[in-house]
Amino acid sequence: MELQEKIDELRRRAQATPAIGEPAIRNRLLEEVRRLFQDLAKLPKEQKGEFGKRLNALKAEVEELSTRAAGERQVAEVRFEDTLPGTPRELGRRHPIYRAWDEIARVFLKLGFEVEYGPEIETEENNFQSLNIPLEHPSRDAFDTFYVRAPHLLRSHTSPVQIRAMRRRRPPFRIIAPGKVFRPDDADASHLPSFHQVEGLMVGEDVSFAQLKGVLLLFAREMFGPDTRVRFRPSFFPFTEPSAEVDISCFLCGAKGCPACKGSGWMEILGSGMVHPKVFEAVGYDPEKVTGFAFGMGVERICMLRHNVRDIRWFVENNFRFLRQF
Ligand code: DAH
Repeated sequence: MELQEKIDELRRRAQATPAIGEPAIRNRLLEEVRRLFQDLAKLPKEQKGEFGKRLNALKAEVEELSTRAAGERQVAEVRFEDTLPGTPRELGRRHPIYRAWDEIARVFLKLGFEVEYGPEIETEENNFQSLNIPLEHPSRDAFDTFYVRAPHLLRSHTSPVQIRAMRRRRPPFRIIAPGKVFRPDDADASHLPSFHQVEGLMVGEDVSFAQLKGVLLLFAREMFGPDTRVRFRPSFFPFTEPSAEVDISCFLCGAKGCPACKGSGWMEILGSGMVHPKVFEAVGYDPEKVTGFAFGMGVERICMLRHNVRDIRWFVENNFRFLRQF
């Protein structure tokens, strides 16, 4: 190789060496430069002056590169002082609403229920008609529901997953359907325009109200403690007949009456009932052959009762002083 090529090659290598500031590496490169000076001696006289200059420039360059790299290394070493305590980072955790969701699901999974999910954007048909909710029903008001583009809307409850599940499956089966729901409600201490529900549905040849009571009693005891009692109050839902609202005995005062249960001793936790024959007809089931029960609960509500949270808005304010407590 010609001397000029050797000079160019060494310069390229020096420039591409990341650890050139390390004394061993720097010395090895300088040693190579020194060896090129020996080549210089063998050159014809008239070239010596020119190549001498070029070699000196190369030597200066290698030295300059290595002092700069050593300086940078020192700065880097100072910047990373690994004996200093680190900056503490806030650890993330599961949101209390999703912890309640998980716990509700866990109880029903133990009772043999499967988890089914439906879309948050639903058809009007699944959200209303198939559930026997008539056109003139107040909850259907086109101006009061979040329509995406008719006939699609943000589901106002998880009950349409009942319809989807019955169309996809054959009885007997039992499912729960947790998910987000949307309503045109202004936020206040007990309302949010978007919240979470868990729907339940059990369908078979002779599913009874007694089984509904048994399942919900077991659920209430798992969630709120082994001494919990349940109370069924007659109610109305278009998709169940008969329908019942379910209360639990107040676990704070043992049903004596306290501020948490507003003095009544009881707290409402969900709506339920026996699946209406019209709902079975809507999905092509024979109401003479199958029966079923259904229930629906608000996850925020369950979570608020368990932890005595007085304002539902606190769940969505991202206030760590609140969230850290769970
Ligand atoms: N979908 C009802 C609501 O959002 C809750 C509900 C009540 C669901 C009774 C049910 C039921 O499955 O049987 O208010």
